[in-house]
Parts: sequence; C-alpha cells; structure tokens
Amino acid sequence: ARITLRQLLDHAAEHGYGVPAFNINNMEQGLAILEAAEATRSPVIIQASRGARSYANDIVLAKLIDGLVELHPDIPICMHLDHGNAEPTCATAIQYGFTSVMMDGSLKADGKTPADYEYNAGITRRVVDMAHWAGVSVEGEIGVLGSLESGMGEKEDGHGAEGVLGHDQLLTDPDQAVQFVKDTKVDALAVAMGTSHGAYKFTRKPDGEVLAMGVIEAIHNKLPNTHLVMHGSSSVPEDLQEIINRYGGQMKPTWGVPVEEIQRGIKHGVRKINIDTDNRMAMTGAIRKVFAENPSEFDPRKYLKPAMEAMRKLCIQRFQEFGTAGHA
Ligand code: G3H
Ligand code: 13P
Ligand code: ZN
Repeated sequence: ARITLRQLLDHAAEHGYGVPAFNINNMEQGLAILEAAEATRSPVIIQASRGARSYANDIVLAKLIDGLVELHPDIPICMHLDHGNAEPTCATAIQYGFTSVMMDGSLKADGKTPADYEYNAGITRRVVDMAHWAGVSVEGEIGVLGSLESGMGEKEDGHGAEGVLGHDQLLTDPDQAVQFVKDTKVDALAVAMGTSHGAYKFTRKPDGEVLAMGVIEAIHNKLPNTHLVMHGSSSVPEDLQEIINRYGGQMKPTWGVPVEEIQRGIKHGVRKINIDTDNRMAMTGAIRKVFAENPSEFDPRKYLKPAMEAMRKLCIQRFQEFGTAGHA
C-alpha cells in the first residue's frame, strides 16, 4: 500500500532503522526494487527526479507506480519526488499520486544561483503548507551538497568543479538546521556533510575530514525528533567498478560513502538514504557483460533481465544493511 514519508520514517525512528530511497526511471528499476523489498519484507521509498519524470512521462510513471502498488499490496511504498525545485514541480507530483515531495531550495530554480536562507525557508514553507493540505509529506534541504575535496563530484554550489564555497560553507550548520525546521515544518531534513551526487565523491577511502559524519551527530543532538536524510549515499562498490571496466567500461578509480558510515548515521537520526549511482552501476555492469560475451545478441530482454537481477541484489543488500528488512 501507498504510505507517506512521515508515516514510514516515524516507524523507522521508533524501531531504529533506515530506509533506502532508490531512484526510478523505468519499469525494470521499479520491478527490481519491489522484488527486493518483497524478498526482504521491507518498506521502501521509490523516488523520481525531474529528469526521471520527463524521461518516463508523468502519466506512464504514475501508472507504473499504480502497477507496483497493486502487485505488492502488503509492501508499504512511499512515492517521493527527488529534488523538486519550485512550487509547480511539487504540486504536479502530488497530482500524479506522489505521497511525498522534496523541495530543494538550496539553489534558485535556474539550478545555478545559490539561494539565501530566506529564499530556501520561504519556498519550502509554502510547499509544506500546500502539501500538508493534501496529506503529502515534505523533505527540505539545508546546506549545500558537494564534495569537500575540490574538483570531485557534482556540486550544488553552482560553480562547477572550481567550487567557490569553502569547507564550512558546504556543511550544514546545526543551529541553522534548528531554525529551518522551526520555520518550515518539514517532515524530513536533508543535510550536507560532504557527499556529492554521482560516482566521483572521494579520491580515497573517506575519513572524517571529507565525510563529516560528526555534523550528523551534532544536528541530531539539537533535533532529536527530526528525520535526517543523506543524499549522495551510494557506496560506489569496487566490485561494480571492476565489472564495468572488465567489460569495456572506463570508470576512473573512485570512492563512495562506506556502508558502515551510513550505519553510524542511522544510529544518529538518519532515516532516509538516497541511492541512485550504485543501481546505475549494477545495471550497467550486467549489460556490458552480456554485450561483451554475446555480441550477436539483440533482444533487449536478454540484457535487461540480468540488469534487473543485479539491481535486485544491490537493493536486497542495502535493505539488510540499513535494518529495513523485516519491517514490512
Ligand atoms: O539527484 C540525483 C539523482 O541521482 C537523480 O539523477 O537527475 O539524473 O535523474 P537525475
Ligand atoms: P548517489 O548519486 O550517491 O546515488 O545519490 C543519489 C541521490 O542523492 C538522489 O537524490
Ligand atoms: Zn540527491
């Protein structure tokens, strides 16, 4: 059944587990995520970005979610908008049956200009007012996602690889987080602690300098009842890099967020963990393997089925590691 982010994360907080939020763009990813949830009896968050909505088409995406909900009637499913950037994006997601939206006001709607506190708190508060009337949850973001290692990752600070914001400006300030939750009444709060989107987060196994999990603990101490969200939380597993490169890929060596750091976060209020890149890599590795070993193959099902299987395996692993398994 469909549930809101608030319902799901309240349960997760009560029982001390985290919930992966997997990105969805197509049927294969949807089937793989739900098969993994079913196999581990896990509640799940499926999230679609603005890019996913235009790729799959809102109508087709909404019907796909209807199908997944009908196919798995006793798995709690939260359908979430990832990185909404303006009121209309959030409103139309609600019209298409999303039970949760993210209003990311860390940048202006042009996707480039860094927003000030007033802009972010104002637009997020307006989305909360609108969404709560419709019984829909809202995730807000305070702080700027982006790697603390210069030149790495996709930055949200609007200045590409040069990154004009310093170390401290990229991390969420705990006092500002308290003010933001009070001003906006968000159901969940995304915070910045040094991760970035994509595969290239860190040039070595991250330590406390570049992955500032201490920030999570400081925020949780001040906001013990707020559900925290970690973006950019793919682990970028070495074995998936290896499979992709063995079958003709060219990924440069890179490090993601170690699962044990996420587990540490879950002990300190992290309830929603966003993962897209790991699943992209799992599917790509499986598809490359089929293409390399069977170059005469041209039936899409012959490579999409192994891709789904690889994604299902990754999702099962995360449900188990985050303690989600068994809570459906
Ligand atoms: O926010 C990042 C997610 O990985 C979604 O990526 O905007 O390319 O769909 P996307
Ligand atoms: P990754 O790129 O680390 O998978 O992060 C995804 C994300 O944060 C989506 O909002
Ligand atoms: Zn994100």
